[in-house]
Amino acid sequence: MRISRPLPIRLHTSHRTALAEHFLALGPDDRRLRFGTVLPDELVLQYVAGMDFERDEIFAVTDEDLRIVGAVHVAFAGHAAELGLSVSEDSRGRGIGNALFERAVVHLRNSGVRCAYMHCLAENQAVMHLARKHGMKIMYAGSESEAYLQLESATPTSYFVEWLGENRANGAEAFKRNARLARSWFELFAPG
Ligand SMILES: CC(C)(COP(=O)(O)OP(=O)(O)OC[C@H]1O[C@@H](n2cnc3c(N)ncnc32)[C@H](O)[C@@H]1OP(=O)(O)O)[C@@H](O)C(=O)NCCC(=O)NCCS
Repeated sequence: MRISRPLPIRLHTSHRTALAEHFLALGPDDRRLRFGTVLPDELVLQYVAGMDFERDEIFAVTDEDLRIVGAVHVAFAGHAAELGLSVSEDSRGRGIGNALFERAVVHLRNSGVRCAYMHCLAENQAVMHLARKHGMKIMYAGSESEAYLQLESATPTSYFVEWLGENRANGAEAFKRNARLARSWFELFAPG
């Protein structure tokens, strides 16, 4: 599995199964860090079935086989929004978490949302690092913490950045789809 530069795409209801597969592949520790509890498979499936792709936004990074290797769920709550991030274990450390975070933030700015927050366990050094790096303020309460980011207003540049990011990501996704099709034809018709 190879991933070039991570370009998050916007997910739609047709991606529900692929998203469920991504969450189900997270081990118990990662599920606890992502959902706050070790969610069993049935509840992961219920969670995904209940996700509202119209009200919320979900952005994801896929690999060459179009499998989701990282996702951010942006759940809107008035003028604020909660981010839930996850990257598959074997795809970490390649900038996917950073790319998903930035994609979510530019979208929130352009949607007029003023505050983004993330619920993190204090032991979660990777997400704490990511939060601090992106200027989030962290409020500790025992083993749990909330990270907040006050968002700037939208500007012509932020609209352009989002438009460009979305188009590049859609172009890269279409390329991966065609390449996968070409691979399967090659496997079918290759001599021997
Ligand atoms: C947190 C998470 C999303 C990061 O994903 P990722 O794709 O590895 O992130 P990136 O590669 O973009 O970068 C992670 C950054 O954290 C740093 N990092 C990774 N592990 C770290 C650790 N244990 N301690 C401190 N920093 C760490 C990396 O060095 C990198 O730093 P940089 O951006 O300054 O180079 C991923 O680890 C994950 O899915 N964890 C399980 C679920 C979770 O914790 N979700 C968050 C709760 S909402």
